[in-house]
Amino acid sequence: MSTVLITGGAGFIGSHLVDRMLKDGYKVVVVDDLSTGNSNYISRDISFSQLDIADRRLGEIFSHNEISYVFHLAAQTDVPRSVNFPVKDAAANVLGTVNLLEKCQAFKVRKIIYLSGGAAVYGEGGGQPFTETSPLQPISPIGLSKMVGERYIELASRVSGLSYTVLRCANVFGPRQDHYREVGVVAGFCQYLVNDKAPAIYGDGAQTRDFLYIDDLIEALCQGLIEGDREIINVGSGKSTSILEVFSLIKKLTGFSGEPYYRPAQPGGVGVFSMKVEKARQVLKWQEKTSLEDGLSQTIEYYRRQNVQT
Ligand SMILES: NC(=O)c1ccc[n+]([C@@H]2O[C@H](COP(=O)([O-])OP(=O)(O)OC[C@H]3O[C@@H](n4cnc5c(N)ncnc54)[C@H](O)[C@@H]3O)[C@@H](O)[C@H]2O)c1
Repeated sequence: MSTVLITGGAGFIGSHLVDRMLKDGYKVVVVDDLSTGNSNYISRDISFSQLDIADRRLGEIFSHNEISYVFHLAAQTDVPRSVNFPVKDAAANVLGTVNLLEKCQAFKVRKIIYLSGGAAVYGEGGGQPFTETSPLQPISPIGLSKMVGERYIELASRVSGLSYTVLRCANVFGPRQDHYREVGVVAGFCQYLVNDKAPAIYGDGAQTRDFLYIDDLIEALCQGLIEGDREIINVGSGKSTSILEVFSLIKKLTGFSGEPYYRPAQPGGVGVFSMKVEKARQVLKWQEKTSLEDGLSQTIEYYRRQNVQT
């Protein structure tokens, strides 16, 4: 039985990945400082350490467990927060990644799978839809810090032979997402509309994103264990959908009869965004299976069951 370390395993994506790895028979170790993670998501079947990935004690996790694979998901994940607190963003996303890579090399980890961000790292580079060779022009500290994380991984691989796959992923949505942040726009809409309340739209709502359902991303991460060695791969639906279109779909699916209200655009967000995902099909042997409408229906169902008040 191989051991996988999942950094950020108490977060939205990480907790789903933990469930899947346990189901697939892996021994799972999680490091998470619980800054945005939720302790209710931590399974009793894993070894959990509440620790900052930039902490020098990270080495103890590696010396106590024979870690074969690392999924690196721990990060400062909020775009406006990265603009307001760039030092904290860099501490987690740059120094944390460098510290983790040092341990991966010292303890001869077989492979690291890193979850980077599509909209954040491509930023305002020209020539959309973005492919993996498009220029990176982040417009927020988080875009830059996630990009620097990619570069450190490539460097670690060159000097020590560490295997890696970098997934530049779309806007992921689904159950357990925290709705209080910009990245959680779908979760926010679902929770407000399920409670028959009008949500805020930041900007005019014409900004577009590529939306991907959580189950499909988890499948892509699993493929990263076996495919795509030393590759950077876009993972998404390949479709570009505006915030207003997402709102309309959720409105239809929930039966909400009101309208959103508008707030000024938040700092650091990009306008139009689209990316190509052909490489994921060819190299990762992966493609999206859940339509936006099906994914939204499942997400709405989850928030109805939770009966979360906004
Ligand atoms: N959700 C998306 O749409 C999306 C899109 C692109 C990339 N990503 C990437 O996926 C990863 C997971 O994102 P998520 O949406 O699940 O966010 P999340 O905030 O729910 O998860 C991040 C987790 O990392 C933990 N964490 C943060 N800083 C840490 C630190 N210094 N040390 C240890 N743990 C720390 C948090 O407590 C949290 O549990 C991130 O790397 C993010 O950049 C997410």
